[in-house]
Amino acid sequence: MSAAAPASLRVIDLIRKKRDGIALSAGEIAFLVDGAVDGSIAPEQLSAWLMAAWIRGLTREETCSLTLAMRDSGEKFDSSRLGKIAVDKHSTGGVGDKTSFLVAPLAAACGLAVPMISGRALGHTGGTLDKLESIPGYRTSLSLAEFETVLDRCGASIVSQTQSLVPADRILYALRDRTATVESPGLIGASILSKKLAEDLDALVLDVKTGSGSFLRKAEDAEDLAALMVAAAESAGTRTVALMTDMSQPLGRAAGNWIEIIEAVELLRGLRPPESEDLRELSLILAGWMIHLGGIAVTPEAGYALAEAALADGSALAIFFKMVDAQGGDASVFDDTAGFHAPGATQVLESWQSGYIAEMDTTAIGLAVQRLGAGRAEPGQAIDPHAGILFDARRGAHIEKGQPIATLYATGSALFAEPVAMLRQAIHISATRPDPVPLVSRVFTLESAENHLREKSF
Ligand code: URA
Repeated sequence: MSAAAPASLRVIDLIRKKRDGIALSAGEIAFLVDGAVDGSIAPEQLSAWLMAAWIRGLTREETCSLTLAMRDSGEKFDSSRLGKIAVDKHSTGGVGDKTSFLVAPLAAACGLAVPMISGRALGHTGGTLDKLESIPGYRTSLSLAEFETVLDRCGASIVSQTQSLVPADRILYALRDRTATVESPGLIGASILSKKLAEDLDALVLDVKTGSGSFLRKAEDAEDLAALMVAAAESAGTRTVALMTDMSQPLGRAAGNWIEIIEAVELLRGLRPPESEDLRELSLILAGWMIHLGGIAVTPEAGYALAEAALADGSALAIFFKMVDAQGGDASVFDDTAGFHAPGATQVLESWQSGYIAEMDTTAIGLAVQRLGAGRAEPGQAIDPHAGILFDARRGAHIEKGQPIATLYATGSALFAEPVAMLRQAIHISATRPDPVPLVSRVFTLESAENHLREKSF
């Protein structure tokens, strides 16, 4: 039991309290988390509390208490033995979001340690671990001791959560998934941060997605989540910023698994395909903030310049290959990336009319990627590492009827009909050029997060 949890509490009183809109104390939240982990609180009572929390919302203090109680619910990583500042980046998830493969080696090349514990594809969003596992031999499931060895050798390591790390989140997330209580800024914030703070980070950069492919579709909810996470992480002693970034179209040109790895490696090699410019820019901005918060650069702009230098001199690429090798991956597949790409079938989607690509329903595009076999609808489903979509045109581009918009990959041609129909619905072509959407619309530092939470009475 955590030290903060009084023993004389009754779950029913805590459900009633939250139901009636009264905030719980740190001790009361710790009692719920302890009871979830040791099985002393029944799932129906936890579910009732989660629903009350979803409807009433969590205050800033409750979010902080839940984050800390969940962080402390199991094993934790000790970054102090690395002898370096430990920094990570977390994204709330999207389509084609492969910045981790760039920012981890970029920050490591600038002298930081990046202990990154990542997730799998679920629903419309892709998963960092599935993408890495498309590299033959790459092991994402390492013990904390192996994780530390890779970090010592390479400066960066990207792995999956262990069974014993933050067990409270595994239990509560599974209940939220079954009780329609996922989409709550306080619950999401505590869930994400508990796992990140169990990495023992000195600094954290949060990439909170907005737009048609984001998890929280209302910009206001996404901003509340960003501000809550910054305040909660800072109060736990981790320097944190959150960037609100665009997910109104897939990030970069590839959405899938192996094809996303290829796109990231092309950029690490210094190539600059025009359709990947947004990915390159966002990765440098995020890495710039990591390098700044990690104390290596005095401003995020100076951090950006250091990250760009690490891209230009090949040091970040060398770290990426070293990490792949250290985690059992066969880095020789990068000698001929196109040759290794072996989809069962390929289909080009041509434009059905001339005009500008005006809007993209990125959630629907993510679901089309999943239906091609690159993602999963249910946890545990098998995925096809070579499936996915490569976009030939991005939002704002002018295209002629018959011109390729995208190339689809799957294990067999029978899998194309549904995703093609979904893409035709998801991509809107218009006679007028759409207004550009900024890649980064807002940055929450501790000060602006505090102001936001005060204004919103959190
Ligand atoms: N990702 C998480 O880790 N937790 C949530 O609650 C939502 C997204």
